[in-house]
Amino acid sequence: MKLEIVPDYAELSRRAAEIVIAECRKRPQIVLGLATGATPIGMYRQLVQAYQRGRVSFSRATTFNLDEYYPIAPDHPHSFRRFMHQQLFDQVDLAAERIHFLRGTAADVERECSRYEAELEAVGGIDLQVLGIGENGHIGFNEPGTPFHLKTHKVALTEQTMRANARFFGSLADVPRHALTMGICSIMRSRKILLLASGEKKADALAAALLGPVTEAVPASVLQLHPDVTVIADKAAAQRLA
Ligand code: F6R
Repeated sequence: MKLEIVPDYAELSRRAAEIVIAECRKRPQIVLGLATGATPIGMYRQLVQAYQRGRVSFSRATTFNLDEYYPIAPDHPHSFRRFMHQQLFDQVDLAAERIHFLRGTAADVERECSRYEAELEAVGGIDLQVLGIGENGHIGFNEPGTPFHLKTHKVALTEQTMRANARFFGSLADVPRHALTMGICSIMRSRKILLLASGEKKADALAAALLGPVTEAVPASVLQLHPDVTVIADKAAAQRLA
């Protein structure tokens, strides 16, 4: 595992974008695994700028997002799909047919999860997976206690995650209680993983994930078992790593 500690969020966003850009240039037909949430917003901004300056193209890239609330309509103001369109998809040259998302309106959840896994398999898996980390150590929406062997599945969000995400919805009551998420097993199959952590709220989770035992109680700790993980943390998030 490679750890880069950077001074602040701006630098974290720049470094993360540089890694994504370098991988996209190395392999234009790259399969990217993408995260939502506050952490990668700065990185997406940098990617859009790099695209506008002609430094990177996504025209042959494929994307899979990690997760989506359930149930939620794709055009709901707080759906992860809408978020991705606003932050990245609508501003770069990604081909619509190569954008993959879990459908928050799927009637048959099991079928939807199998469809996603089959699509992942069909493209040969993820080359570079970008991850954030929850305050409770979750990755994707794999909450503490999620078995490591699970592939894409439906989850009940914990109270803590719903509270953390209420900042986007305005009120806790409006946060969906469930989500569909790529499982730990699906995430661990990615060839390369980039984990981003910003802010002191993430300091305990990051320390537990990187320095503690590998345990399902801290989902991100599984990354210690992956052969190619880069962690970029700003000073605030890294403060308990010493
Ligand atoms: C989002 C996701 C989550 C977030 C995590 C951190 O697609 O999978 O695991 O990465 O909840 O969220 P922020 O970045 O908002 O602190």
